[in-house]
Amino acid sequence: MKDAQPKAIYLKDYQPPEYLIDTVDLHFMLADEATLVKSRLQIRRNPLAPESNSLVLDGEQLKLLSLAIDGQDLAAEDYIVDSSALTIMSVPEKFLLEITTEIKPQDNTSLEGLYRSHTMYCTQCEAEGFRKITYYLDRPDVMARFTTTVEAQADKYPVLLSNGNPIDSGVLEGGRHWVKWEDPFPKPAYLFALVAGDLEKVEGTFTTMSGREVRIEVFVEDKDVEKCGHAIESLQRSMAWDEQVYGREYDLDIYMIVAVDDFNMGAMENKGLNIFNTSCVLASPETTTDASFQRVEGVVAHEYFHNWSGNRVTCRDWFQLSLKEGFTVFRDEEFSADVGSRTVKRVEGVSMLRTAQFAEDAGPMAHPVQPASYMEISNFYTLTIYEKGAEVVRMLQQLLGAEQFRQATDLYFERFDGQAVTCDDFVACMEDISGRDLTQFKYWYTQAGTPVVNVVGEYSETDNTYRLRFEQYCPPSPGQAEKEAYMIPIKVSLFGEAGAMRLQCQGMTADTETDDNTEMVLEITARQQEFVFEQVMELPVPSLLRGFSAPVKLHYPYTAEQRLFLMSRDNDGFNRWDACQQLCVEILQSQVLAVQTAQSPELDQRLVHAFDGLLMDESLDPAMVALMLQLPSQAYLSELSEQIDVFAIDTARRFTQTSVARQLKERLLAVYERLSSDESYLPNAEQIGQRSLRNMCLSYLVSLEEEQAISLAEGQLSCANNMTDEFAALLAMAHSQDDKFRSRKTQALNSFYEKWSHEPLVVNLWLQAQATDPSAECFENISRLMESAVFDINNPNKVRALIGAFANQNAMNFHKTDGSGHQFLGNIVTQLDGSNPMIAARLVTPLTRWEKYTEDTATSMRGVLQGIQKQPGLSKDLYEIVFKSLKMD
Ligand code: TRP
Ligand code: ZN
Repeated sequence: MKDAQPKAIYLKDYQPPEYLIDTVDLHFMLADEATLVKSRLQIRRNPLAPESNSLVLDGEQLKLLSLAIDGQDLAAEDYIVDSSALTIMSVPEKFLLEITTEIKPQDNTSLEGLYRSHTMYCTQCEAEGFRKITYYLDRPDVMARFTTTVEAQADKYPVLLSNGNPIDSGVLEGGRHWVKWEDPFPKPAYLFALVAGDLEKVEGTFTTMSGREVRIEVFVEDKDVEKCGHAIESLQRSMAWDEQVYGREYDLDIYMIVAVDDFNMGAMENKGLNIFNTSCVLASPETTTDASFQRVEGVVAHEYFHNWSGNRVTCRDWFQLSLKEGFTVFRDEEFSADVGSRTVKRVEGVSMLRTAQFAEDAGPMAHPVQPASYMEISNFYTLTIYEKGAEVVRMLQQLLGAEQFRQATDLYFERFDGQAVTCDDFVACMEDISGRDLTQFKYWYTQAGTPVVNVVGEYSETDNTYRLRFEQYCPPSPGQAEKEAYMIPIKVSLFGEAGAMRLQCQGMTADTETDDNTEMVLEITARQQEFVFEQVMELPVPSLLRGFSAPVKLHYPYTAEQRLFLMSRDNDGFNRWDACQQLCVEILQSQVLAVQTAQSPELDQRLVHAFDGLLMDESLDPAMVALMLQLPSQAYLSELSEQIDVFAIDTARRFTQTSVARQLKERLLAVYERLSSDESYLPNAEQIGQRSLRNMCLSYLVSLEEEQAISLAEGQLSCANNMTDEFAALLAMAHSQDDKFRSRKTQALNSFYEKWSHEPLVVNLWLQAQATDPSAECFENISRLMESAVFDINNPNKVRALIGAFANQNAMNFHKTDGSGHQFLGNIVTQLDGSNPMIAARLVTPLTRWEKYTEDTATSMRGVLQGIQKQPGLSKDLYEIVFKSLKMD
């Protein structure tokens, strides 16, 4: 438990470190009872910092066994130890500090620092976990060269790993052995890693652009050796891509990845020794869905790209987190777009941003891409830092153009190699290369909230002009009542009967990237701004914010006819999808209103027609058709609501889903049949697209709760040769609500479990299927599962699969009017806070949005938060979230 009343720390208070550490020599003696850590630090005063005699090192949950400076043991009065620091009263200019601490990894359930997962030891040091291993200057602007010796019992821990290259090893008495590692690159402590275990190694190689051969080594448990191929291939593709697209070469002789089952996040980019959640590295057709195959590829790429954007050039302080995360997400998204389908990737990315990041940006935890303050940095690994941060980099690339953007990143990597820098340093490179002043652009880094852009168009037949008037506004966010105007790049085209028009805009030259002058990027810089297009010979339909060129909420008063027109005619794939999505949104919103006013909802037949057209047209990309048929989610419709009415949204979605299914039943069945395939499984864009459309058809059909569709699902469940189809069929069965299918539903779930009980990641899918079941018995099921041996509250993947999925993807049950869902989550969060505060603080998120719900729901949610807040000894993590969401800060 941490101290009471945590305090915020502020970016404006940043001071350079008073001391620097040149080298670190670590010696770990791993043992069941207690692990000893001996650290030898070469320290000197920082010439760039104000004078000071005392040295304050970070350290938590450590037992200090010995302390010496230049070989002299310190006396008790020479230093002070408290719960978060070791203070040495007086130190020389330059000295060797030797520290021995004792830690107990076997009792560490927080999964930060050194801990155990199954039978292995592993570490997680970002952001502030290294201080749970030994006393240190645990801040990213202190970069040191590390050597690490790992010593353990040889039979139980044959594999001993740390960062860099192995330089020595030996055997000791009593069945122990050791390996010494050296990392030649100076690094902050958050990139330190250690692994010890009985692991199998799967190997690959990569030859770099300069002809060096790099060994790829993936370490997994014996039973998983067959599931490493996809990760290795993804890594090889990432390494080649970073050379081609950014000119970045890998810099060590070995690249190691270790898979661990107990992990708080997706993966960690430790120098030369990535540690991965098993869910982000293991993949096989039989056990892994298409979505997970793509996640593995994306996360492997993400961690690899960090080697330059994060490790070689790192963050000065944690306020700069998006410097590495936003940039690296941008890089991994572009990689995935290049190796898969660009438009599909963009639609998926924007959907997530608009649903979850926009909700975060409108909630009590809203913060800028570069936050000005935080209490607990673990709470700031957010969609804003990652996904909005990536959008900000994307806008910079858009503004500079591909060529200058590349020059600017070359300059960034060259100028700051081996340094810890800021977001301003990154933008300065963009300015230096382009010669542009990006001062106004930087509000994207410093202001929270999602800007709203209202647009109207005005056509004049008399002088053939078309005016687009823009108005921008950003709602207040915590601590920021008023916002400065943003610089918003809005990509536009104008469509007439013959297609995209050539653009002639007063005071502008057409975009140089399209040679036919049909697309332009308008830079909105004022609160109100007008652009006049000339020689416009007919009333155009504008295509705005093409490719989602800025993370804003753009409104234009389109008619349904205009949306249908863009849906089939726009040559921007993203906007074609968005025209369809926004048409669905409007239809669903009017149905919600009907439900709320006790009228019967109606379905605009033009949508049914359009869907029919999409299903019929075999020339279309099946992946895009599936995305267009996917109705806006409960979560997205909630985000768009002024006040969230869970029941009305659910009713409207169900009504539309079943109405479409009823009217297009024959067509859906035909497409389902047409797309059946006996090709052997490949996780490529083409097959993934076909499976997603086929399973989309299945989900429409089963919504009818008819024998025919349920039999289809049963058949697919038993015959599928890959987990994508098998899981889609399981979901169809598991979410059926009609009593007449009850025993077949139970049967499907039981046999799935029997088949896969030995595969933890598949069991998680099974838990998730039950957690998201909309039927009334779901809640009892979850409680029963939690009590069973299948569940493990100390395993974050299990918690996310069962509890996280319930709270985030099962609105009707989570928000049940008796408040039982809220209370249930509150109890689990409180319990988890004692063992894993980081996961507890993440899990509580859905409750923090209480203000947006209808009154009774809001009252119940707030009540649970107040209950948590009264608990004694809350962690800093949970304290910050709960207090901010109750507006008590
Ligand atoms: N840097 C990691 C990434 O984005 C994130 C991460 C992994 C992390 N594990 C963590 C952050 C634990 C905080 C705590 O790739
Ligand atoms: Zn990252």
